[in-house]
Amino acid sequence: MTHKIAVLPGDGIGPEITEQAQRVLGALGMDLEMTVAPVGGAAYDLHGHPLPPETLSLAQGSDAVLFGAVGDWKYDSLERHLRPEQAILGLRRAMGLFANLRPAILYPQLANASTLKPEVVSGLDILIVRELTGDIYFGQPRGVRTVEEGNFAGERQGFDTMHYAESEVRRIAHVGFQAAQKRQKRLCSVDKSNVLETSQFWRDIMIDVAREYPEVELSHMYVDNAAMQLVRAPKEFDVIVTGNLFGDILSDEAAMLTGSIGMLPSASLNASQQGLYEPSHGSAPDIAGQDKANPLATILSAAMLLRYSLNAEDQAKRIEAAVASVLEQGLRTGDIYEDGCQLLSTSAMGDAVLKALR
Ligand code: IPM
Ligand code: MG
Repeated sequence: MTHKIAVLPGDGIGPEITEQAQRVLGALGMDLEMTVAPVGGAAYDLHGHPLPPETLSLAQGSDAVLFGAVGDWKYDSLERHLRPEQAILGLRRAMGLFANLRPAILYPQLANASTLKPEVVSGLDILIVRELTGDIYFGQPRGVRTVEEGNFAGERQGFDTMHYAESEVRRIAHVGFQAAQKRQKRLCSVDKSNVLETSQFWRDIMIDVAREYPEVELSHMYVDNAAMQLVRAPKEFDVIVTGNLFGDILSDEAAMLTGSIGMLPSASLNASQQGLYEPSHGSAPDIAGQDKANPLATILSAAMLLRYSLNAEDQAKRIEAAVASVLEQGLRTGDIYEDGCQLLSTSAMGDAVLKALR
């Protein structure tokens, strides 16, 4: 059976890192049909829209999407609906990619890369499960309006709407509990239920779904405290489940604990195993085209793609072992370089992973 993969390189370093991931996928000896299409600012330049209909339908018709990164300062002055970020938001919404899995793992070989003390982060292995298609990100109404009454009457006001429907909370709760079941069986739900109605509702549903998973220990934490605990004692966490906005913020924080955001993959899944796989880092336009970006997060995203969308666990493990092997050999791109290691370019790192695969 041929598996269809849409490859959307995007902007900045996106093309050079996805190229390496494609090479790795191509070397597995699987029957993969990879089709490349523009997205983000690159698509805007070509077609006047960050998510052209051809790119969207290619993605929708594929088993999985391998995504690079979008965004560049040069598009910051465009109207919101034309900005590169709208491509990723549009793909999430159109494909129903509600479950975002963001692992934050500290590789033993990179223990010194973190800005935190080694004893705080060594062995770190946490998984953030972020709801990705609801919350204030997509809530309506939103916009700018004129205040009718009260203190600010007559003034313009910017506003967004936070809401979660019960089914939205339930389905992400199940993803969180099932992920925890396969790990240390501890799930921490992060909310702001001391202030927000949406969060109180979220918490109530989490508690209800927990009855179906008696072997998983559910705890709750306010998001401000979670932000603090993540830097104080991150190893206390196993799986975190949270809403779209809090998950956006906490997943960047968690990624940086490892000091090597260039190593972290992510998966965004819908209910039918279709997924979009992308590195956790952004498009880094400042180093684009210089062959110095770290392709490993994208290569590891390809491993997640094999695991979650193609049910090819063995092949996923092969890639992950190859990445561990290049680190073990002391091979590094600039972002994770330390004394005594060998500095490689993006493409040379791709070569090294390919060699380790064989
Ligand atoms: C992320 C990014 C996106 C988000 C942006 C690019 C829209 O920050 O994937 O975390 O806010 O979800
Ligand atoms: Mg983010």
